[in-house]
Amino acid sequence: MQHKPLKRENIQEGLKETRFRNIILVDMVDSTNELAKRQLLKGAEDGTLIIAEEQTSGKGRMGRRWFSKKYANLLFSIILRPGLSKDCIFRLNMALALSFIEAMDGLIGIYAMIKWPNDIYVKNKKLAGILTEFFLEGEGIKQVIIGMGINVNWAPDDKELLYPVTSLCIEKGRYVDRESLLVEGLKKFDKYYTDVLNNTIEELYIKWNRRCMVIGKKVSVIRDDKELEGIAIRIERDGSLILLSNGEEKRILYGDVSLR
Ligand code: BTN
Repeated sequence: MQHKPLKRENIQEGLKETRFRNIILVDMVDSTNELAKRQLLKGAEDGTLIIAEEQTSGKGRMGRRWFSKKYANLLFSIILRPGLSKDCIFRLNMALALSFIEAMDGLIGIYAMIKWPNDIYVKNKKLAGILTEFFLEGEGIKQVIIGMGINVNWAPDDKELLYPVTSLCIEKGRYVDRESLLVEGLKKFDKYYTDVLNNTIEELYIKWNRRCMVIGKKVSVIRDDKELEGIAIRIERDGSLILLSNGEEKRILYGDVSLR
């Protein structure tokens, strides 16, 4: 299949009523998160959106790599200067993941789920991942770079990865338009980000719990080389996972979760 390049004008038009008006679209970059860092040093504004058609050193969480194919998928990073307390950082991941699964529901008819804290899954296969990097100043978040990779029309070979993967194209059996997904997902995120800034997150909190695939399940969480098992109870308002382990509720801020 011949993949079509993204058009900046179409994305700009679709996002004109959102905070994502400063759009940088590049053909090739090391990593959109790294380019975002360089842009931050030059004073890039809140809501700067950096999109790449290809990454030569795409980064995943825990030092892993992120693979993609030119013109096939979505690879982007957003620069935010939220001025929030550092306890709110994990809300941003959940808000971005929820925005895109809702966009997938409406546009493509794919029912995806959030795999806490940073992934989107369809039927136990990974479809998208989020990599958040932040810079603190005292108790506050000075800047956040939130990067997302979505397998739209291409997925890497499972054998090279630790987990099964899929793409929207594989799930639907047809080519999926990247521009409309990007625009729809970011329009939703624009609203949810405003809710996070205003601390009006009840709707978000209810929705992300409803769409979180680990809730009510027996899971194991690996965090800093330690493993903890338990039942996932809920994702708290601050974005942390509440795990019932040995009769006690434990609050987990980050980690790698697998279903038991
Ligand atoms: C993960 O699942 O481990 C997170 C993957 C995040 C990948 C995206 S692609 C766009 C942005 N730039 C990067 O180098 N990584 C993120």
